[in-house]
Amino acid sequence: MRDFKPEDVVGDYKEAVLDLYGGLRRVVFYTDLETPYPDGKLIVSTTDTNGIITHGNKAFVEMSGYTLDELIGSPHSILRHPDMPAVAFKDLWDTVNKGLHWQGIVKNLRKDGGYYWVKATVIPNIRQGKVVSYTSVRRKPSHTKVEECTALYASLK
Ligand SMILES: Cc1cc2nc3c(=O)[nH]c(=O)nc-3n(C[C@H](O)[C@H](O)[C@H](O)COP(=O)(O)O)c2cc1C
Repeated sequence: MRDFKPEDVVGDYKEAVLDLYGGLRRVVFYTDLETPYPDGKLIVSTTDTNGIITHGNKAFVEMSGYTLDELIGSPHSILRHPDMPAVAFKDLWDTVNKGLHWQGIVKNLRKDGGYYWVKATVIPNIRQGKVVSYTSVRRKPSHTKVEECTALYASLK
Protein backbone atom coordinates (compact mmCIF):
# COMPACT_ATOMS: atom_id res chain seq x y z
CA MET A 1 0.00 0.00 0.00
CA ARG A 2 1.04 3.56 -0.71
CA ASP A 3 3.16 5.24 1.98
CA PHE A 4 2.12 8.48 3.63
CA LYS A 5 4.13 11.45 2.39
CA PRO A 6 4.59 14.57 4.57
CA GLU A 7 4.12 16.76 1.48
CA ASP A 8 0.57 15.39 1.01
CA VAL A 9 -0.43 16.40 4.54
CA VAL A 10 -2.16 19.69 5.28
CA GLY A 11 -1.45 21.28 8.68
CA ASP A 12 0.33 20.10 11.82
CA TYR A 13 0.34 16.34 12.09
CA LYS A 14 1.02 13.47 14.47
CA GLU A 15 2.49 10.14 13.47
CA ALA A 16 1.17 6.64 14.23
CA VAL A 17 2.14 3.12 13.24
CA LEU A 18 -0.76 0.88 12.23
CA ASP A 19 -0.43 -2.90 12.42
CA LEU A 20 -2.71 -4.11 9.68
CA TYR A 21 -4.00 -7.46 8.52
CA GLY A 22 -1.43 -9.91 7.16
CA GLY A 23 1.54 -8.43 9.02
CA LEU A 24 1.31 -5.19 7.04
CA ARG A 25 2.64 -2.08 8.85
CA ARG A 26 1.93 1.47 7.82
CA VAL A 27 3.18 4.75 9.22
CA VAL A 28 0.42 7.36 8.92
CA PHE A 29 0.32 11.10 9.52
CA TYR A 30 -2.90 12.54 10.91
CA THR A 31 -4.25 15.97 11.77
CA ASP A 32 -7.32 17.22 13.62
CA LEU A 33 -8.90 18.73 10.49
CA GLU A 34 -12.35 17.32 9.79
CA THR A 35 -13.90 17.26 6.33
CA PRO A 36 -17.67 17.37 6.97
CA TYR A 37 -19.72 14.66 5.26
CA PRO A 38 -21.40 16.27 2.22
CA ASP A 39 -25.20 16.51 2.50
CA GLY A 40 -27.20 14.17 0.29
CA LYS A 41 -24.25 12.15 -1.01
CA LEU A 42 -23.59 8.43 -0.82
CA ILE A 43 -19.99 7.22 -0.68
CA VAL A 44 -19.80 3.78 -2.29
CA SER A 45 -16.94 1.31 -2.68
CA THR A 46 -16.61 -2.39 -3.44
CA THR A 47 -13.87 -4.82 -2.43
CA ASP A 48 -12.98 -8.38 -3.32
CA THR A 49 -13.27 -11.01 -0.58
CA ASN A 50 -9.84 -9.97 0.79
CA GLY A 51 -10.84 -6.33 1.27
CA ILE A 52 -8.95 -5.05 -1.79
CA ILE A 53 -10.74 -2.11 -3.39
CA THR A 54 -12.16 -2.89 -6.84
CA HIS A 55 -14.59 0.04 -7.39
CA GLY A 56 -15.34 3.45 -5.92
CA ASN A 57 -17.70 6.27 -6.84
CA LYS A 58 -16.88 9.96 -7.29
CA ALA A 59 -17.81 10.83 -3.67
CA PHE A 60 -15.43 8.09 -2.42
CA VAL A 61 -12.57 9.61 -4.43
CA GLU A 62 -13.42 13.16 -3.33
CA MET A 63 -13.75 12.37 0.38
CA SER A 64 -10.68 10.11 0.63
CA GLY A 65 -8.47 12.60 -1.22
CA TYR A 66 -6.86 9.81 -3.26
CA THR A 67 -7.17 9.33 -7.01
CA LEU A 68 -9.21 6.36 -8.23
CA ASP A 69 -5.96 4.81 -9.51
CA GLU A 70 -4.42 5.00 -6.03
CA LEU A 71 -7.52 3.43 -4.45
CA ILE A 72 -8.15 0.54 -6.87
CA GLY A 73 -5.96 -2.41 -5.90
CA SER A 74 -5.22 -1.06 -2.39
CA PRO A 75 -6.50 -2.73 0.79
CA HIS A 76 -9.48 -0.83 2.24
CA SER A 77 -7.32 -0.23 5.31
CA ILE A 78 -5.73 2.60 3.26
CA LEU A 79 -8.44 4.66 5.04
CA ARG A 80 -7.80 3.21 8.50
CA HIS A 81 -7.60 5.97 11.12
CA PRO A 82 -5.42 5.42 14.23
CA ASP A 83 -8.39 6.42 16.47
CA MET A 84 -10.41 3.40 15.24
CA PRO A 85 -10.22 0.37 17.57
CA ALA A 86 -9.28 -2.96 15.94
CA VAL A 87 -12.36 -4.58 17.54
CA ALA A 88 -14.69 -2.52 15.30
CA PHE A 89 -13.17 -4.08 12.18
CA LYS A 90 -13.10 -7.55 13.74
CA ASP A 91 -16.85 -7.17 14.25
CA LEU A 92 -17.25 -5.97 10.63
CA TRP A 93 -15.40 -8.98 9.16
CA ASP A 94 -17.01 -11.52 11.55
CA THR A 95 -20.44 -10.20 10.50
CA VAL A 96 -19.95 -10.03 6.72
CA ASN A 97 -18.15 -13.39 6.64
CA LYS A 98 -21.39 -14.90 7.95
CA GLY A 99 -23.23 -13.35 4.99
CA LEU A 100 -24.84 -10.65 7.15
CA HIS A 101 -24.98 -6.85 6.80
CA TRP A 102 -22.79 -4.77 9.14
CA GLN A 103 -23.57 -1.22 10.15
CA GLY A 104 -21.29 1.08 12.09
CA ILE A 105 -19.87 4.55 12.55
CA VAL A 106 -16.35 4.84 11.13
CA LYS A 107 -13.71 7.57 11.34
CA ASN A 108 -11.67 7.53 8.13
CA LEU A 109 -8.23 8.93 7.38
CA ARG A 110 -7.81 11.08 4.28
CA LYS A 111 -4.70 11.26 2.12
CA ASP A 112 -4.12 14.81 3.43
CA GLY A 113 -4.06 13.52 7.04
CA GLY A 114 -7.52 14.88 7.88
CA TYR A 115 -10.52 12.76 8.74
CA TYR A 116 -14.23 12.26 8.02
CA TRP A 117 -16.93 10.32 9.84
CA VAL A 118 -19.38 8.04 8.04
CA LYS A 119 -22.30 5.79 8.86
CA ALA A 120 -21.38 2.67 6.89
CA THR A 121 -23.41 -0.33 5.80
CA VAL A 122 -21.26 -3.19 4.49
CA ILE A 123 -23.08 -5.79 2.42
CA PRO A 124 -21.76 -9.16 1.21
CA ASN A 125 -22.57 -9.74 -2.47
CA ILE A 126 -23.66 -13.35 -2.82
CA ARG A 127 -23.70 -15.29 -6.12
CA GLN A 128 -24.85 -18.92 -6.21
CA GLY A 129 -24.61 -19.16 -2.43
CA LYS A 130 -21.04 -17.83 -2.22
CA VAL A 131 -19.76 -14.42 -1.07
CA VAL A 132 -17.99 -12.97 -4.11
CA SER A 133 -17.35 -9.36 -3.00
CA TYR A 134 -18.40 -6.69 -0.50
CA THR A 135 -19.97 -3.28 -1.00
CA SER A 136 -20.01 -0.44 1.52
CA VAL A 137 -22.51 2.41 1.26
CA ARG A 138 -21.96 5.41 3.55
CA ARG A 139 -24.30 8.14 4.66
CA LYS A 140 -23.92 11.19 6.86
CA PRO A 141 -23.83 10.18 10.55
CA SER A 142 -25.71 12.16 13.23
CA HIS A 143 -23.72 14.44 15.56
CA THR A 144 -24.97 12.42 18.53
CA LYS A 145 -23.66 9.13 17.10
CA VAL A 146 -20.29 10.69 16.26
CA GLU A 147 -19.97 12.02 19.82
CA GLU A 148 -20.95 8.64 21.30
CA CYS A 149 -18.45 6.80 19.08
CA THR A 150 -15.63 9.28 19.76
CA ALA A 151 -15.91 8.43 23.48
CA LEU A 152 -16.52 4.70 22.92
CA TYR A 153 -13.56 4.25 20.52
CA ALA A 154 -11.22 6.19 22.83
CA SER A 155 -12.20 3.82 25.67
CA LEU A 156 -11.52 0.78 23.44
CA LYS A 157 -8.02 1.87 22.39
C1 LIG B 1 -16.58 -3.18 1.70
C2 LIG B 1 -15.65 -2.78 2.82
C3 LIG B 1 -15.48 -1.45 3.13
C4 LIG B 1 -14.61 -1.05 4.15
N1 LIG B 1 -14.50 0.28 4.41
C5 LIG B 1 -13.59 0.69 5.33
C6 LIG B 1 -13.39 2.08 5.57
O1 LIG B 1 -14.05 2.96 5.00
N2 LIG B 1 -12.44 2.43 6.48
C7 LIG B 1 -11.69 1.51 7.15
O2 LIG B 1 -10.83 1.90 7.95
N3 LIG B 1 -11.88 0.18 6.96
C8 LIG B 1 -12.81 -0.23 6.06
N4 LIG B 1 -12.99 -1.57 5.86
C9 LIG B 1 -12.26 -2.52 6.71
C10 LIG B 1 -10.86 -2.74 6.20
O3 LIG B 1 -10.88 -3.77 5.22
C11 LIG B 1 -9.90 -3.16 7.35
O4 LIG B 1 -10.38 -4.32 7.99
C12 LIG B 1 -9.72 -2.07 8.41
O5 LIG B 1 -9.32 -0.85 7.82
C13 LIG B 1 -8.71 -2.45 9.50
O6 LIG B 1 -7.52 -2.88 8.93
P1 LIG B 1 -6.98 -4.36 9.17
O7 LIG B 1 -8.10 -5.32 8.92
O8 LIG B 1 -5.85 -4.51 8.21
O9 LIG B 1 -6.52 -4.39 10.61
C14 LIG B 1 -13.88 -2.01 4.88
C15 LIG B 1 -14.05 -3.37 4.56
C16 LIG B 1 -14.93 -3.76 3.56
C17 LIG B 1 -15.12 -5.22 3.26
